[in-house]
Amino acid sequence: MLFIDIIAGARPNFMKIAPIIRALDRRRGTVTELGYRLVHTGQHYDDAMSKVFFTQLGIPEPDINLAVGSGTQAEQAAAIMIGYEKLLNTTPSDLCLVVGDVTSTMACAIVAKKKHMRVAHVEAGIRSGDQSMPEEINRLVTDSITDLFFTTSVFANENLRVSGVSPEKVFFVGNTMIDTLVANEARLRQPDFWQQTHLSSKQYIVLTLHRPSNVDDSKTLLGILQAVGNGAAPLPVIFAVHPRTAKNVTTLIDIPENIVLVAPQPYLEFNYLVKHASAVITDSGGITEETTFLGIPCLTLRDSTERPETVVIGTNELVGTQPSAIVGAMKRLRAGQWKSGAIPENWDGLAGERIVEVLCTAMN
Ligand code: UD1
Repeated sequence: MLFIDIIAGARPNFMKIAPIIRALDRRRGTVTELGYRLVHTGQHYDDAMSKVFFTQLGIPEPDINLAVGSGTQAEQAAAIMIGYEKLLNTTPSDLCLVVGDVTSTMACAIVAKKKHMRVAHVEAGIRSGDQSMPEEINRLVTDSITDLFFTTSVFANENLRVSGVSPEKVFFVGNTMIDTLVANEARLRQPDFWQQTHLSSKQYIVLTLHRPSNVDDSKTLLGILQAVGNGAAPLPVIFAVHPRTAKNVTTLIDIPENIVLVAPQPYLEFNYLVKHASAVITDSGGITEETTFLGIPCLTLRDSTERPETVVIGTNELVGTQPSAIVGAMKRLRAGQWKSGAIPENWDGLAGERIVEVLCTAMN
């Protein structure tokens, strides 16, 4: 018998666990010794950041919600660790499966490992090389105590090889976030504001920003918004505002008029917007994978990426955060000079199946 804890805490986790749960449910009929429970840490708790993804992606209700809520990185990590340890004290488990690089990923991996459970990390091995990002620390810590490394790219495989991980622990399964896109591409749907805003296909740009370095300082945020708005004009820029960003954006005056502020979008609406956009401008990592898969030009407002395949193979370019660099890149985009890309190896919609195949083998 193998009992698995599947951990999810923040928005980008939800699209990664959906295909794994689907694949596990398919197996449970035949492999009766395989069990799991879904543990939501509660790091993200708003309906718009959490519940709507469960509903749209058909993820079952979490079996446990640790309900940790907001806090500093340390407060959240501590609350998650205490909550998860208590859970394991009363109801132990064999294997802890964590995804991505958020606080919940690292916190649960640490607790599980200290309880002598095996740790499986989905999206292992990716590195930005920038330890000023909390996610990079989460990746390094998680991978240092991982037993089963599920990877999305040859770059991740190489990072793990260089850091001394033995190859038999590394499974190049592909990308579960792309599994979710493949499974839902035909269901994507127009957001309500499409008509009111008079949007038409390829005649607008999508913007998301949530990195502390881009959004926590109002002057920096305004500089980015002005560069993006002026570079895009007369096209509208649909800016889906993350709660962290909302705290600052509402205090800003002088935001260019063509920037349209909208709430965080549900999965199906957001990816509809991406699929029909002329380009996406973002500081997210996951979105650069989706734009690469969909072949949409992507401008990343960061100086580094943990997903080099989106730049080397895909449609993504690291533009940095300087307003002059943003304006320059947007000129090339508007002049139709953006590169076209290809889809990285194994991004084929089957990563979840491959992961569960490995987990079934790991039972023995
Ligand atoms: C987290 C992840 C980041 C991921 C992002 C996607 C870490 C270190 N960072 O960053 O990798 O790309 O999620 O969204 O785990 N808040 C709400 N409602 C919510 C959730 C958060 O209002 O449902 C507020 C919080 O109070 C906080 C802010 O948003 O002030 C940031 O939330 P937090 O979970 O700390 O990190 P994110 O910036 O969302």
